[in-house]
Amino acid sequence: MDALSRALSALRWIGPGGIWRALRYSRTKARLDQAYLPPRAPETSRPLGPLREARPRPTGLEGVLEEGSLEVEAVLPRLFRLLWGPGPAAPEYGVDPAFRPDPGPVEVREREEGWSVATAALELRLPFGGGLCLRDRQGRVQARLEGPVRRGAGWEAALPLPEGATVHGLGERAAPLDLRGGRYRLWNRDPGGAYGPGDDPLYLTLPLLFLVRRGEGILLFFDVPWPGEVDVGREDPGRIRIRFEGGPLRLYWGAGPVPELLSAYARLTGRPPLPPLWALGYHQSRWSYAPQARVEALVEAFEGRGLPLDAVHLDIDYMDGYRVFTWDRRRFPDLPGLARRLAREGVRLVAIVDPGVKVDPGYGVYRQGHEQGRFCTLPDGTEVHAPVWPGWAAFPDFTDPEVRRWWGDRYRVLLEAGIAGFWNDMNEPAAFVDRGDPTLPLATRHALEGLGGDHRAAHNVYGLLMVRAGYEGVRRLDPQRRPFFLSRSGWAGIQRYAWVWTGDCRSDWAGLRASVATVLNLGLSGIPFVGVDVGGFHGRPSPELFARWVQLGTFLPLFRTHTAAGTPDQEPWSFGPRVEGICRIFLELRYRLLPYLYTLAWEARRTGWPLVRPLGWPDAEDPGLWRVDDAFLLGEALLVAPILEPGAEGRAVPLPPGRWIDVWSGRVWEGPERAELAAPLERIPLLARAGTVLPLAAPVRRSGRIFSHPLTLRLYPPADGEARTSLLYLDEGEGWAHEAGAFRIDRFTLAREGRRLELTWTTEGTYPWPFPAVRIEPAPGLRWTAVRVEGGTGRQEGEAIVLEGPAARVEVRFS
Ligand code: GLC
Repeated sequence: MDALSRALSALRWIGPGGIWRALRYSRTKARLDQAYLPPRAPETSRPLGPLREARPRPTGLEGVLEEGSLEVEAVLPRLFRLLWGPGPAAPEYGVDPAFRPDPGPVEVREREEGWSVATAALELRLPFGGGLCLRDRQGRVQARLEGPVRRGAGWEAALPLPEGATVHGLGERAAPLDLRGGRYRLWNRDPGGAYGPGDDPLYLTLPLLFLVRRGEGILLFFDVPWPGEVDVGREDPGRIRIRFEGGPLRLYWGAGPVPELLSAYARLTGRPPLPPLWALGYHQSRWSYAPQARVEALVEAFEGRGLPLDAVHLDIDYMDGYRVFTWDRRRFPDLPGLARRLAREGVRLVAIVDPGVKVDPGYGVYRQGHEQGRFCTLPDGTEVHAPVWPGWAAFPDFTDPEVRRWWGDRYRVLLEAGIAGFWNDMNEPAAFVDRGDPTLPLATRHALEGLGGDHRAAHNVYGLLMVRAGYEGVRRLDPQRRPFFLSRSGWAGIQRYAWVWTGDCRSDWAGLRASVATVLNLGLSGIPFVGVDVGGFHGRPSPELFARWVQLGTFLPLFRTHTAAGTPDQEPWSFGPRVEGICRIFLELRYRLLPYLYTLAWEARRTGWPLVRPLGWPDAEDPGLWRVDDAFLLGEALLVAPILEPGAEGRAVPLPPGRWIDVWSGRVWEGPERAELAAPLERIPLLARAGTVLPLAAPVRRSGRIFSHPLTLRLYPPADGEARTSLLYLDEGEGWAHEAGAFRIDRFTLAREGRRLELTWTTEGTYPWPFPAVRIEPAPGLRWTAVRVEGGTGRQEGEAIVLEGPAARVEVRFS
């Protein structure tokens, strides 16, 4: 953002008082940081040196290095944990508290040239000559690591960057999908108002690197929340270098097939819980829908225009003077009544909750937090105050388990008011500054589970722990509910508690385009549920840009329109009748896709795999497919190639190997050819993988209503002689009964011989089939000519075969 528009936004958003506080705070913070931080020691580099000797352990070893120590433990067949010393102890916030190592049989051996720790899948070698490598069980080297170097109180580690490898991960980056050639900072940061391509760092950084080479992956997760930097072949094109300013050097390291590695990472850092079904519906947001009557009018407008809607978000203006866990009784005279009325119509309210608690002795949350010592302090014991929306605010120390509990319990007020979901913002944590780092002073003290430390050790996990506090609170307070949390910041493990969105992107074509790579890299960072502010946050989109943004949003896990204060409304009808028509097509398509999206959500729950995947997924050997960042796979079945340029009426996309069918026209393409796809403003290029059985709901207006109408199974024939299996996962869509077995998985195998298709349908699980009927439809351009149904009843009706319920086998001929 240029200086003038930044200044104007600041004035509009925080007013003259806010600007004054930002100026004052920036100065105080600079002074504190300078006084607190030890003068930079000359950066001596001290390699820890090669392995001298080792003591075997049942699943690893304890090694003595020339200048330090190294513990190795196999934690999963494809994942090793390495801890170098000397270094301070530190909590492992990224690791799922429920994680238990399960490496299978491990062999620890001393060999002539060094030590080796081997699982059934991988061998970690520690040669006496220095360095480390991972080999597969055929003895092929998969990955190498140079012995780390101590730099002052910090660390530096490096690894070769093989030619032809693509590099992904690192959390949220406004960078290409292949991160090669860039330098990235590890420090969660609110870029202040808006960001665009190339801005770094952003709200959610994460020291996870995912390299892909010849279709195989290498994963490095540095479990180090300290500030750091990753250079991906920029200084030296053949190396990746990682630096941390402090902390213990803890690394989880593995190699193997990409999906398997990502699953191993998800076991370690936690798999995402199954979301409530409604979260996959359409969300309407803006800063801010207030007062209450405006929220009511908004929902009525959706209803009146026949547009689908599942959630409305309440931004900061619902609060009483931006005091968290309150609401403004003038603007929202009856919030519980509003929530109740909307809930009856199937619309949920999601309310924003920021971490900054207004410093105001007359306000209960502050008073209690202050009296009970819940807030962060400086080394001299004074409470840290920094300016955010409410003016001066105090910040709960979420690194203290007692504080997390206290904070979690505060959600009672909002739950009782009928709020269904929670949006955690500003949790980097962000503070208003006019220069310098927009966060708390580095001297800020944190409990860190009793180990103690300053803000450098706690900053990057602050957002994660805020969301954890809320999630655990809502689980305690309302055990039947599946919590829905949306978070801006986070770190490794955030997926255990929340979905994330990519923050304050600009409303321009560059912002739209860049968001695809950002979402893909978040997925390869273990965060499957992601969304983007549809329409862009800062600025006003043209009607065409808005239409294209809605089309992209339709295929992202979170589908939410949102915009800043002071911008024109971004409602489906705000851009005229043509764009409203386009919004209707795509909102309806979103609801039709819910059974498929929900199945992908369940798959993410089981495996940690992202819903939105690079075209190279799972094992393309062509690195080109791992670099495409203007198209993606949604699960296995769909390939989405959004239009990301003004005026474009079509585009090309390189196809992954296999047959693909144009969802609109039925035209067949054979990967790896390049498809040229038409896309007038009413269309997004969309292909289905041949052989897919795509479950589609009726185009209803609420997610919960999909079960009142027949389910469509759309059949995309495989190539002759081939077969493919598709899944459908179903349960109540809310609550936890699925964990006690109340779910069903329907498996559809579609096989083809010439013009004959055979659909075999098997079911696992006890949850009853919830749809009143099933329609089996051909891909566009095809017609059923003969039908036979076994193990069920059905008949041909127009272009579809209508079944009363599941059938064991359906055989059709098509022309
Ligand atoms: C931050 C959020 C944005 C929100 C605003 C006001 O900028 O990223 O989504 O609307 O704060 O709460």
